[in-house]
Amino acid sequence: MLKIDMENGLVEVDGPDGSTTLAIGSPEAFKLISKAWLRSGWDAKYVYSFSWMGRPIIQLPEDMMRIQEVIYAQRPDVVIETGIAHGGSLIFYASLFKAMNHGRVIGVDIEIRPHNRQAIEAHEMFDRISMIEGSSVDAGVVAAVGKQIAAGERAMVILDSNHTRAHVLAELRAYAGFVAVGSYLVACDGIMQEVVGAQRTSPEWISDNPQSAVANFLAERDDFVLEEPAFPFNEGAISERVTYWPNAFLRRIK
Ligand SMILES: C[S@@+](CC[C@H](N)C(=O)[O-])C[C@H]1O[C@@H](n2cnc3c(N)ncnc32)[C@H](O)[C@@H]1O
Repeated sequence: MLKIDMENGLVEVDGPDGSTTLAIGSPEAFKLISKAWLRSGWDAKYVYSFSWMGRPIIQLPEDMMRIQEVIYAQRPDVVIETGIAHGGSLIFYASLFKAMNHGRVIGVDIEIRPHNRQAIEAHEMFDRISMIEGSSVDAGVVAAVGKQIAAGERAMVILDSNHTRAHVLAELRAYAGFVAVGSYLVACDGIMQEVVGAQRTSPEWISDNPQSAVANFLAERDDFVLEEPAFPFNEGAISERVTYWPNAFLRRIK
């Protein structure tokens, strides 16, 4: 049980050894409240309430702010994103590249619905976007992505399609080779593991999720490490992301 006493600026939490009281602004209290907020947001479908430049974007805004920090610092030549849906995140990455006057994005989706394709193709950002339709783990699709990347180009990969452990693991294996040394392979939506029991979840998610895929992937190779990108600016007391993407950032080290 978590109790928030706004008047006195305190948070009380029950643990195995009784209850603990924390200052509301302590990093520990912030983490607990954030966890509760994420769970509330999951049930309320909060992430289904945003758009970017006119297109629905199914993301927690903080995740977009953080990935923006990584993209700006890394300055990749290309971002490959699996999972287009309405195109909001594709447009988001393209708009960063347009503002940076550098870079482009390749989107992959098993089904690009005609109205979504039409809206993305008509968008101001489309000159920095290409789309490939097909399953992200289909060998032909992976080869088609590869054909769009020139030798020496630095790529970053963001996996936001089907979030089962098997699919994400297959994507990690298929797309790892595109990631530039020093850049990131990002497995989105590991939050699934943390909301089991909530609405629209299934008990298997406890192990069938992107975080498990990341653990399996890391166990089979040594060229990637799980590494949180550092916050480029932080004058506050919080140093952990509030995120739908826990344990998501794999940095290529060789
Ligand atoms: C969570 S949505 C993507 C959200 C989008 N990135 C955004 O931020 O708005 C997941 C998408 O993955 C696509 N998808 C599901 N299975 C797939 C697969 N095997 N290969 C590629 N895309 C897939 C779905 O069609 C859906 O559009």
